Amino acid sequence: MATKKKLFIKTYGCQMNVYDSGRMADVLAPLGYEPAEAPDGADMVILNTCHIREKAAEKVYSDLGRLRLLQKDKASQGGRMVLAVAGCVAQAEGAEIMMRAPFVDMVFGPQTYHQLPEMVTRAVRGAGGVINIDFPAESKFDLLPEEAGRPGGPSAFLSVQEGCDKFCTFCVVPYTRGAEYSRPVSQVLAEARRLVDQGVVELTLLGQNVNAYHGEGADGRVWGLGRLVRELAAIDGLERIRYTTSHPRDMDDDLIAAHGDLPQLMPFVHLPVQSGSDRILAAMNRKHSADDYRRVVERMRAARPDLALSSDFIVGFPGETDQDFAETLRLVTDIGYAQAYSFKYSARPGTPAAGMEGRQVPETVKDERLQAVQQLLNAQQVGFNAATVGTVQTVLFDRIGKKPGQLLGRSPFMQAVHALAPERLLGRVVPVRITEAHANSLAAEVVTSESVHAPAAPAGLAAMEAQV
Ligand code: 5AD
Ligand code: SF4
Repeated sequence: MATKKKLFIKTYGCQMNVYDSGRMADVLAPLGYEPAEAPDGADMVILNTCHIREKAAEKVYSDLGRLRLLQKDKASQGGRMVLAVAGCVAQAEGAEIMMRAPFVDMVFGPQTYHQLPEMVTRAVRGAGGVINIDFPAESKFDLLPEEAGRPGGPSAFLSVQEGCDKFCTFCVVPYTRGAEYSRPVSQVLAEARRLVDQGVVELTLLGQNVNAYHGEGADGRVWGLGRLVRELAAIDGLERIRYTTSHPRDMDDDLIAAHGDLPQLMPFVHLPVQSGSDRILAAMNRKHSADDYRRVVERMRAARPDLALSSDFIVGFPGETDQDFAETLRLVTDIGYAQAYSFKYSARPGTPAAGMEGRQVPETVKDERLQAVQQLLNAQQVGFNAATVGTVQTVLFDRIGKKPGQLLGRSPFMQAVHALAPERLLGRVVPVRITEAHANSLAAEVVTSESVHAPAAPAGLAAMEAQV
């Protein structure tokens, strides 16, 4: 048995990183590393980083400065803190990190964490830092241990696809995560079954471009995400399925039909559009128009009338005029979002948009536009939440609340819900009546405890209202 060591992982950015951090902990467990709550005194600290916007990347360097002090403390007590930078900043800025922060022991990209044990051995023995930012020929998914650690609760992430071939002109993902890759169906199903056996009732399938999934099926043919989801829905005990993040171009008929056919597939989809202006969408290389997006949403809502949507928006993309921005606001108004994220355009080194000289939008204009779009989106979110008051929803309780006797969970539409409920309902999908709506959460009361084993309600708001 290896001696026990403390491992602290800080995760930045997307849900894929959250999943990756979990798998890194799995890989390091046989070496004696156990998760720690804080970096103080840890034997290894990994920063699993995000490069998507400048702010996220800069945060890493300021965190490294603070960790340097903890590393020195540990050394003064005769110990050693191995410091590692993983994820997309590592992939994009490997050598620069070692230059700016020479006390870092390991820098490795998202495709190499199955090689962590060797890297750790090299870093601990050697004097110099270890840099590993290859895109190895072997798939990390084939080489990670099967025995994944216990999931953190009843809801788990499962990575099914990685990388992106879309090359939106603002985005670093195709460079940091590499070409699109789909895990074979058999591997995904095996991991899903293992998680369900461990008590997971909700799975979120992850991929940078998850609906471009094209994994090899048991029949040797290529399966799309719709087919994969149908297969997952057949797993006994798996009550909820979600997937993120999708591209409008890859929303095919089969996946859309699955939303109508499968009660397990939650009626909430994150479908980034970025802009409502055709001119800007073309400059972004999004490969669809605003009306294409409207039509995709129409088809999805025809299959699942209660479908709620989320999205990402970028304001101030190079060359964006007031007119272009007005079209974004018009699209938001037309679609009506349950929630959404919006960002000021941030020039990323090496991406085509960063080189659009002289077309960059002034910061003050970006600020104004961000405020305007957020105001509209917030109002839509408040309206969406308010519309659920009085209805019965199912909630998957996944944690204990702050107040005594309170449990917290998520509605089918990803709304945070809190209710007074006995602890035995943790990990269960439970019908509740929504009593109050706030901007970011809902209050509810448990309707009945008899049907706690029932699968998620078959249809959304309308059908549930009819039951009341
Ligand atoms: N600037 C601002 N936002 C960006 N995103 C991606 N790249 C950039 C960038 N350079 C946003 C997009 C994407 C989300 C994950 O981050 O909206 O969908
Ligand atoms: Fe980035 Fe575009 Fe790929 Fe999304 S689809 S990861 S925004 S390049």
